[in-house]
Amino acid sequence: MMKKVAIVTGGSRGIGFSIARQLGVDGYRIVILATGEAGRYQENFHLLDELEIEWHYVQGSIDSTEDRKRLVEETVSRFSRIDVLVNNAGVAPLERNDLLEMTEESFDRVIGINTKGTMF
Ligand SMILES: NC(=O)c1ccc[n+]([C@@H]2O[C@H](COP(=O)([O-])OP(=O)(O)OC[C@H]3O[C@@H](n4cnc5c(N)ncnc54)[C@H](OP(=O)(O)O)[C@@H]3O)[C@@H](O)[C@H]2O)c1
Repeated sequence: MMKKVAIVTGGSRGIGFSIARQLGVDGYRIVILATGEAGRYQENFHLLDELEIEWHYVQGSIDSTEDRKRLVEETVSRFSRIDVLVNNAGVAPLERNDLLEMTEESFDRVIGINTKGTMF
């Protein structure tokens, strides 16, 4: 039977990587989306290889319409199906200020990634 496929946004490290690894152990093929260069995550990808988990990395951002489209296209072209989406990617403000000091730029970045990016 063809193995199921899970996309984990922000699955390159942190909580997302643990989710990706566990889904892989549970029998899923994994597609990971994150903004960093693949080279940055070699150690974690190596762990997936050791566990014989099939994975594919897409470098891109959930707040980019083009990147989200490419994520789906690459997943279908590599693994032919999508069964699960784990909407894990998210950011905190670059600078944690008092509420009254929040800039519009910071608000737009956090909402753009965490809320809009996750939604779309
Ligand atoms: N840890 C906590 O205590 C805590 C508490 C509440 C909520 N959360 C939320 O839980 C999620 C995971 O937390 P974490 O602590 O594991 O975070 P983390 O260590 O900062 O990891 C975030 C992951 O998301 C990726 N990422 C960041 N921005 C992205 C973007 N625009 N598009 C795609 N991928 C992106 C990061 O890789 P790149 O940097 O390469 O993009 C990384 O893989 C986040 O949404 C976080 O806000 C965490």
